[in-house]
Amino acid sequence: MDNHYEPKVVAFCCHYCAYSAADLAGSMRLEYAPNVRIVRIMCTGKVDTLHLLKAFEDGADTVYVAGCEEGSCHFQEGNLHAKMKVIQAKMLLKEVGLEPERLEMYNISASNSVLFARAADEMTELARKLGPNPLKKARGEVK
Ligand code: FES
Repeated sequence: MDNHYEPKVVAFCCHYCAYSAADLAGSMRLEYAPNVRIVRIMCTGKVDTLHLLKAFEDGADTVYVAGCEEGSCHFQEGNLHAKMKVIQAKMLLKEVGLEPERLEMYNISASNSVLFARAADEMTELARKLGPNPLKKARGEVK
């Protein structure tokens, strides 16, 4: 594997929970992988399958959606819709030759900074294990 490979991880985080947990992790000076790029959204229900696929097309090695805990979405069922979008996108990833596990869904409450940090570490570690996004390899951006 390319020794210079440094994973790019994209996290779509709900403003009300996962994003607040990320903020808290920062205030608590919790250490987690610096590879994560956070996209703040008002609710994970706003995430579309296309956004997830586009993140991979733009070079993400792993992607995750982090929403409120089930039953706690501020917009009723946004996180349940997001869960379905993640499942759909996983199937599409498989069809185009990417490992579906490159995409995950987490439910993280605003106070759970530890879980936020763990999710960031897990998805970064997974990206290291799987290697670069095959789309980047096909474009010759990584070896
Ligand atoms: Fe957080 Fe809907 S408001 S997932």
